[in-house]
Amino acid sequence: MSELQNISVSLPKGGFDRAGVTAAVKKSGLPGQFEKLAPGPFGKTATSLGVLEGVVAACDLGLAAAEALRGVILDEAASGASFAVPELTRQQRQLVAAFQVAVTADSVERHIAEWVHEPAVEGSLEMDGLSDLLAHDGPPVELLGRVLRIAAAYVQMKAPARTSDEDDAPEPDHAVAATLAAFFELLRRATITYLKSSSLKPLLSALEAREVRVAGYPYDGLEIAERIEVETGLLPVSPSDIVGNDEYVEAGLKLARAVAGYDFEAGKNPKKINPVLFGLGRPGSGKTITAHAVGNYFLNYCRERDVPAQFRVIQRTEWASSYQNASAQNLVRIFREEVYGFDGVSGVYWPDIDTAFASRSAQGLRMEEKQNLGAVFGVFDGTLLPKDGKWFLICDANTLHMDEATISRIAQNPMSVDGPTKPAQYAKMMRELMLDDVARFVPGDDLTWQKVGKLCVEHDLSGRNVESICNNIRSHIQDFEYPDEYFQADGARRKEIIDDLCKPVSSAQVLEYVEDFVEFRQEAEDEAEEEKFKREVESIVRQLNASRAAAALTGEEG
Ligand SMILES: Nc1ncnc2c1ncn2[C@@H]1O[C@H](COP(=O)(O)OP(=O)(O)O)[C@@H](O)[C@H]1O
Ligand SMILES: [Mg+2]
Repeated sequence: MSELQNISVSLPKGGFDRAGVTAAVKKSGLPGQFEKLAPGPFGKTATSLGVLEGVVAACDLGLAAAEALRGVILDEAASGASFAVPELTRQQRQLVAAFQVAVTADSVERHIAEWVHEPAVEGSLEMDGLSDLLAHDGPPVELLGRVLRIAAAYVQMKAPARTSDEDDAPEPDHAVAATLAAFFELLRRATITYLKSSSLKPLLSALEAREVRVAGYPYDGLEIAERIEVETGLLPVSPSDIVGNDEYVEAGLKLARAVAGYDFEAGKNPKKINPVLFGLGRPGSGKTITAHAVGNYFLNYCRERDVPAQFRVIQRTEWASSYQNASAQNLVRIFREEVYGFDGVSGVYWPDIDTAFASRSAQGLRMEEKQNLGAVFGVFDGTLLPKDGKWFLICDANTLHMDEATISRIAQNPMSVDGPTKPAQYAKMMRELMLDDVARFVPGDDLTWQKVGKLCVEHDLSGRNVESICNNIRSHIQDFEYPDEYFQADGARRKEIIDDLCKPVSSAQVLEYVEDFVEFRQEAEDEAEEEKFKREVESIVRQLNASRAAAALTGEEG
């Protein structure tokens, strides 16, 4: 008996059968429905077009998947010495069709999710003809045509009427797209349920026994093995929210794109990549916010290209916890198993790595813990996990706490993260990013903001300092109590009431807020920052010791 063949599906350049799929989509009437139910000024809206293009790509992937599975089945059937070309049985045809439907549906949903929120879908589709639909014996593109026609009928029936003019009703094009996504999810579920409960089960098991990968996603039979985490825990920021730090941001984005290009089939990245990006800067220069923006960019970039990806932020409490045995060993596990072992590409953010280094040299830590921590630094020299372009790491530290030797252990060329340094950058940060929600109540002339920017440069304020100042300004503007009327008012009236109550802030006052901050608060905030660092280092040392003590108590040293 020969070994089971693996199945690997990806779209060739230029698509698998773009022309055939495009014709099938046109013929189904779906494009016309978008025009009819959600007309744009020149026919379809941009969202509608994007969704339809996504549907074409998804259907094409489905055809490629059907072809790949059919090929493997025939190949294995023909492994005898005979020249006879075997035919697929009815059941085998159903399995191939189910695979096509599942892959298409997964991909349609991913593509539509780029444009609209995923709909909440309940239950499954009642479809009497499902068994026959799957058993059809024409080419996959014909099955596709039938599925698309049913989809069109479903949209026709379910898409909300255009007349709803409630405030929170979705745009018509979004509603149609969401209905389409819901249809594919229902069809996917119905298909899987049918296969699991019918005589096809053994065939399904045969599929599950192989390694199956479609467009980078690992499949367990007809389902994606690991549903990619949606909740990322990242701050909702994008690269355009960062002021200054140009070089650092660029390097991060470049690294993210390079890792997205990892070739799962070859098991390597065509590019040689230095996976560690190390940022050095003073507190509040925007190191954390930059790393989060790169993380979001990475996840979006990969989602748009159908590459399975995760982005992981390492929390201090995860590895220096006082639970027994959960010491720095856990950090090793995170990198080996969660990061490198992940079925997809990974990005990692390790903030404030200086606390880990300071802990390592701290008094009162036993040799074992030092070694333990030391193992973790194998991330940087490639001894903990290979630098093969499947992952990248962004880490950062406060300049004050790092000596030359330690810095060079992490990276030959750390990047300096300076945050805003020019008057215009400070001005942009305040007006466009931090106070944009109260823009009507701050000075509108550029001259004021030039002055404010200059003042910030003069006092060398950090991004975080500026954030504090902006918070003070906002409190000034919003210093009012809600009148009773507010609580009975509707949305529009509430807005009016608040507009009346907000207190505009003058040019002179803005400058005063900056001066006040410099005089009374800056020093205190910078000291608090330093205090926080010391406390964190101490608590790591204490917790590592506690975990050792706990282990000794139960005789499980380790
Ligand atoms: N370069 C920057 N661009 C935009 N906002 C910034 C920048 N630097 C600091 N901030 C603001 O200050 C806050 C603290 O910055 P953070 O990224 O936590 O600094 P760090 O990690 O360098 O200590 C951020 O949430 C953001 O509001
Ligand atoms: Mg930080």
